Amino acid sequence: MDLSLPSAASPLAGRVAVPGDKSLAHRAALFAALSPGESEVANFPDSGVTRAMRGALDALGVHSALEDGVLRVSNKAAGLPFRSGAVVNCCNSGTTFRLLAGAVAAAGIEATLDGSDGLRKRPMDRIAEPLRRMGADVSTTGGHAPLAFRPSRLHGIEYVLPVASAQVLSCLQLAALGADGASTFHVPGPVRDHTTRMLRAMGARIEEDGCTTRVHPLPSAALRPLRGTLPGDMSSAAFLFVAAAIVPGSQVTVANVGINSTRTGMLDVLSRMGADVAIEREREEFGEPVGDVTVKAAPLHGVEICGDLVVRSIDEFPAIAVAAAFADGVTTVRDAKELRYKETDRISVLVAQLKALGADVGEHDDGFSIRGGTLSGGAANANGDHRLAMSLALCGLRSARPVVVEGAEILTESFPEFVSRLDALRTDGLVLS
Ligand code: S3P
Repeated sequence: MDLSLPSAASPLAGRVAVPGDKSLAHRAALFAALSPGESEVANFPDSGVTRAMRGALDALGVHSALEDGVLRVSNKAAGLPFRSGAVVNCCNSGTTFRLLAGAVAAAGIEATLDGSDGLRKRPMDRIAEPLRRMGADVSTTGGHAPLAFRPSRLHGIEYVLPVASAQVLSCLQLAALGADGASTFHVPGPVRDHTTRMLRAMGARIEEDGCTTRVHPLPSAALRPLRGTLPGDMSSAAFLFVAAAIVPGSQVTVANVGINSTRTGMLDVLSRMGADVAIEREREEFGEPVGDVTVKAAPLHGVEICGDLVVRSIDEFPAIAVAAAFADGVTTVRDAKELRYKETDRISVLVAQLKALGADVGEHDDGFSIRGGTLSGGAANANGDHRLAMSLALCGLRSARPVVVEGAEILTESFPEFVSRLDALRTDGLVLS
């Protein structure tokens, strides 16, 4: 499918909500499947990646139902949470794969985890290696999926993660619940802490000291069920915030969005670039900070993004790059080599596609630089990456000529409501539907 957003003839304005957070949704579905009780989670997003998690849990024998945005999971299995011997297709979802690997290792069952061709290219040694240190019997396919698990018993370890990755930490935390002693993990920087928060709420004992976490074993049968409403997804709202920041005169509010500080790096970036960012009605829901976030357009200027800010914005660089492409001066992103291991190599693919639209972009080993200005527009390709599809489409709001994004159907992997939410914010009456 090709997607081309009409250029914005007048400001974007309004207040919208976005579907529940995908990172939290993955965890909620999986942790609910581990708990022997009945869980009920509202505002559960229905997208490609959450379907991947639910499908994977189905393959492991735990069924869930999603109706009117409410996910219900009931695991009646006595003893082990999962059936043994399953071949599990995690589709294109790295979070599904890596979190499930930890839970499968903790369950000590035989299982094969696999996924799409794209997922098979992503690095899995980063989980297999520490899982083996814990005693897991797991083999990779040259460091990649498929991963084959055979029955094993785990012991507690102390481990320094080589990369600041929430997926890897979460995998190990889940495995540690099934070990026969406590485990300590040191992470080289702050990563999203949703696993710690949610597992604690379910009864797990996890201690945190800066970037070190210590996990005490807990049989999954002792995990309390989950009940609550997921906050809106900051990673989806990010596209609406960038749209508001680049279309002069705009003011957009996303209500009930998750504002966990490990996820709000892009708001800090937009604010440093000159956009007006305000958070109101701060509160806590489902053990996570939530608020109403408003972004107002203002003249943007280039900034440097490096260090911890990179991890706090890790999924938002395609969107941030769009803001940078319309900013005055140069934006430079460094310390971001992890972007090369996402759904695509998000450095080289992003650079190539923005170039195709006329941007002045340079590639670095660990990031990129963009000199902002105007974009000529034209054709770009999503390259099988949902975030790239939406970001490239946003360029069309202000490009000289229309932008046509080929392969844009991939956006349903994460934010199927992208076009309808943007349409709701347009005041110029130019909608796609
Ligand atoms: C995620 C962690 C991040 C992020 C991904 C979701 C999670 O990946 O990019 O979209 O839910 O834990 P890494 O842990 O590989 O950085």
